[in-house]
Amino acid sequence: MSTHAKQKRLTTASIRAMKGRDRVVCLTAYTTPIARLLDPHCDLLLVGDSLGMVLYGMDTTVGVTLDMMAAHGLAVVRGAERACVIVDLPFGSYQVSKERAFLSALRLMQETGCDGVKLEGGEEMAETVEFLVARGIPVFGHVGLMPQLVNTAGGFRSMGHSDAEAEKIRRDAAAIEQAGAFALVIEGTVEPLAREITASLSVPTIGIGASVACDGQVLVVDDVLGLFDGFKPKFVKRFAELGPVVSSAVQSYALEVRDGRFPAHEHTFQPRKR
Ligand code: KIV
Repeated sequence: MSTHAKQKRLTTASIRAMKGRDRVVCLTAYTTPIARLLDPHCDLLLVGDSLGMVLYGMDTTVGVTLDMMAAHGLAVVRGAERACVIVDLPFGSYQVSKERAFLSALRLMQETGCDGVKLEGGEEMAETVEFLVARGIPVFGHVGLMPQLVNTAGGFRSMGHSDAEAEKIRRDAAAIEQAGAFALVIEGTVEPLAREITASLSVPTIGIGASVACDGQVLVVDDVLGLFDGFKPKFVKRFAELGPVVSSAVQSYALEVRDGRFPAHEHTFQPRKR
């Protein structure tokens, strides 16, 4: 039997319909227990390829594979009852051809039970987005700063500062909307441009480092919880500092194991009384 037979989650159509009505709350999630905690509060859970950096210690998302996305996508779907779940297509799984993109997306949809896929790219990916959407795969676009292009872009930096760059991002967003995406991420983009694009589109824009002008927001959950101690971009706000909490719990555990206080009597099985 399918593991995702009784889906009651928000659909990509309901996320799209939030434009101009409700702000869209989105966070990344990579595991079942975290998905369960986020689900009641979020409209969208994104199984981002940021998991390469957050969970696997990679420097960029370039090394993330379809196998990783399928495994974590399934874990998140298992933990989501209400939120719409979108899984990232990783680098290399959709750029070669639209047919290849369809097969990669199909694998994620079938193996995880997710509601759609996200891919990075503007005008150059519009034909692929149209191909997927026409064949039943909901697509979440991603423009502005595109982390999978880090090697050609020469690093991670905010976008839209020059007229030419701003014009390209405008065209990218319009092309992805036109191709049928139900929403799109705008990452690392200057506020006036994000505001203008948001006003010009009929689908929700979900900002990360693109200001409050977007229709919704997404952050990496480990950043929100203060669990990721790598580079902290300007746009990250830590809503908790769980790193020190984890560290102190583990320090107490180590102390109690070393001095023989743990496990205590209540953690120990005794023979049943006869
Ligand atoms: O991979 C990711 O987590 C993302 C979001 C942060 C937008 O693409």
